[in-house]
Amino acid sequence: MNIFLPTRVCLFLVFLAAPAVADDTAGKAAFERICAMCHGESGEGAEGPPLVPLKHGAQEILGFVRNGRGNMPPQPRSAITNDEIAAVAAYLGMLGDAAKK
Ligand code: HEC
Repeated sequence: MNIFLPTRVCLFLVFLAAPAVADDTAGKAAFERICAMCHGESGEGAEGPPLVPLKHGAQEILGFVRNGRGNMPPQPRSAITNDEIAAVAAYLGMLGDAAKK
């Protein structure tokens, strides 16, 4: 009976990995909804500085977005959730990695 356990663990890990993919989509959507108008469609920079390649960690970005920074206005939770900000940071990191290749 126990021989089936590794299979179950593997299936479980596959299901765990699935939301990570969904998060990139959530990050992209939230970025385009809120950040793109100032930081460019692909984070290349516009009114705000470029965010790709990303020079800040997820925790720092959470702080900038919640508290504002210079001319960047703070965003309330009703506009973007903490999870979405984390997803945006992951999305920007991914864009930077893709640009390096
Ligand atoms: C209304 C325009 C505007 C919006 C919307 C906006 N930003 Fe910004 N952002 C700025 C400006 C302007 C700066 C430069 C602030 C300064 O240092 O004076 C900035 C700075 C930053 C920085 C620091 C960049 C650096 O290299 O120092 C990060 C990170 C950042 N923004 C992330 C975001 C994210 C993530 C979002 C979306 C949730 C967002 N911003 C939405 C205008 C904006």
